Amino acid sequence: MDQASKLRQMVRQDGAPPARRARVIAVTSGKGGVGKSNLSVSLSLAAASMGRDVVLIDCDLGLANVDVLLDLQVRHNLSHLLTGEVSLNDVLVPAPGGLRVLPGAAGVSQMADLTDPEQRVLLGALEQLVTTTELIVLDTGAGISRRVVEFCLASGEVVVVTTPEPTAIADAYAMIKVLGQADPGLKVWLVVNMANHRGEAEQILERITLLTRRFMGLEVERGGYVLSDPRVPHAVRRRLPFSLAYPSCSASVCVGEIARNLGFARTRDGGGGESFLRRMRSFWSGSDRVHAGTPPR
Ligand SMILES: Nc1ncnc2c1ncn2[C@@H]1O[C@H](COP(=O)(O)OP(=O)(O)OP(=O)(O)O)[C@@H](O)[C@H]1O
Ligand SMILES: [Mg+2]
Repeated sequence: MDQASKLRQMVRQDGAPPARRARVIAVTSGKGGVGKSNLSVSLSLAAASMGRDVVLIDCDLGLANVDVLLDLQVRHNLSHLLTGEVSLNDVLVPAPGGLRVLPGAAGVSQMADLTDPEQRVLLGALEQLVTTTELIVLDTGAGISRRVVEFCLASGEVVVVTTPEPTAIADAYAMIKVLGQADPGLKVWLVVNMANHRGEAEQILERITLLTRRFMGLEVERGGYVLSDPRVPHAVRRRLPFSLAYPSCSASVCVGEIARNLGFARTRDGGGGESFLRRMRSFWSGSDRVHAGTPPR
């Protein structure tokens, strides 16, 4: 019996519901600091409030901070899971709003440097997660590194976040280009964060959609936009997710709209989980390496 079958059997023996396959969505960007972590948290919360069973994974091993945004008391994190010190259930932390979070670890070696046993442990944990939850949201680190791109490609669905700044737009476009070239069938949702007004966001959404269609032959989906809202940094300083601290502020309303656009209100048979694991395995076995240098703009 292979490792995956053993895990599936273990899950069933634990009395968990029969195997299902989670929808897996990575939240990424080209430029850093555009709001990925805040959006990952608030989108996960919105999905949970719509009845989805959600696990949020902080994939940023270098500068993990989802636990800070949610003010979680974290005893163990991804690094302890990888070294085999603890099991998946020990690492998953219940978070406000009914979420479960797999916290990342600040200052740990890059995913690209994972050893074979560490990779096996991570794949085993992901296997367990995709069969026991409904939606997995991955908050990725910034930049077009091979590690981030692999996570995005494995997910099958990616939310690319930009702000109205020309540098952020150029970097988002570059990220979409890398992802689209590696997998033209990848579902890419575009979100404009920190927009000054709706018209500005709509213009950027339209421009990037037109450019990717014309020059990449890629259909980017409209995720939506989040207005620039002082409540967001205010909530961060209070170590509260803005959508829980200020559920009716403009940023929270915008995130609700994005969650609906992404279909979080509907129960759906994910189907993405199995391919997520298949793709992760092929990346890590070296048979399908992604070359993610900064592309020409
Ligand atoms: N809609 C918004 N309005 C105002 N400020 C925002 C908004 N979204 C995010 N911010 C602010 O932007 C900053 C960066 O946000 P966040 O940490 O979520 O970005 P990130 O893309 O995850 O960064 P990194 O690339 O370092 O992981 C935070 O200080 C946050 O308060
Ligand atoms: Mg972040």
